[in-house]
Amino acid sequence: VPYEHPRDIAYSFDGPLGTWDYAQLQRGYKVYKEVCSACHSLKFVAFRNLSELGYSEAQVKAEAATWQVPGVDPTTGEASMRPGEPTDFFPSPYPNAVAAAAANNNAIPPDLSLITKARADGTNYVASLLTGYQEPSPELLAEHPEAAPGPGLHHNPFFPNLNLAMAPPLTSAGQVTFDDGTESTIPNMARDVAAFLTWTAEPTLVKRKQTGWAVMIFVLFATVLAYFSKQQIWSAAK
Ligand code: HEM
Repeated sequence: VPYEHPRDIAYSFDGPLGTWDYAQLQRGYKVYKEVCSACHSLKFVAFRNLSELGYSEAQVKAEAATWQVPGVDPTTGEASMRPGEPTDFFPSPYPNAVAAAAANNNAIPPDLSLITKARADGTNYVASLLTGYQEPSPELLAEHPEAAPGPGLHHNPFFPNLNLAMAPPLTSAGQVTFDDGTESTIPNMARDVAAFLTWTAEPTLVKRKQTGWAVMIFVLFATVLAYFSKQQIWSAAK
């Protein structure tokens, strides 16, 4: 059964000269926090990592404290939730996989830390998936009746199985308020959260590209130097 390849969306971090758009990453973080974190963990990211998005130390501390993480009550010694600290990792919304499956029609929402690397063309895939929900077309159903979504499933041509357990998470413009004045349309929220999840999966992406340039320039310089050295060393042997 055919599924669609992700739409190509332009990002600041594309190409050899790509850089992060910190305002975009901060908007994407807000979408993750206010929408996706209800179901998806981000277990490989710590609150202190948010300093890489341009937040100050004080902002990171305040931001961490807005999350509840599993802890221990200091007086009773029993498990209890406490406000997050910069060194904590993002908490899982469910206590365990059984609870996660029970809440989601038997499908476990995957951790999103590495999702843009785990899927082909991951950044575009995430943005396309979030904006791609639609009714299956009559032509598709005529050719592939099995492509009709079963109970509790939602049709999305960008999902390789065509139907997934995640209901459309972005449903209305303005669902998340962007602090920088960017219009929070559904495509903008989808694009920005996909950018944020690209950063979580490869926080060193921009540094990698810049290191590549430094290496290439050094290799060029070393080659020129080697050439002239060779000329000088052999200049007497004519
Ligand atoms: C699956 C992203 C919000 C529940 C997924 C997948 C992605 C994703 C990329 C994986 C698809 C794949 O395997 O290729 C997001 C983003 C969200 C969001 C970026 C916020 C904008 C939510 C919410 C819920 C949810 C709020 C729960 C109400 C699920 C479930 C799956 C899933 C159950 C597994 C679906 C299946 O395998 O059939 N999500 N999600 N997601 N998500 Fe979300």
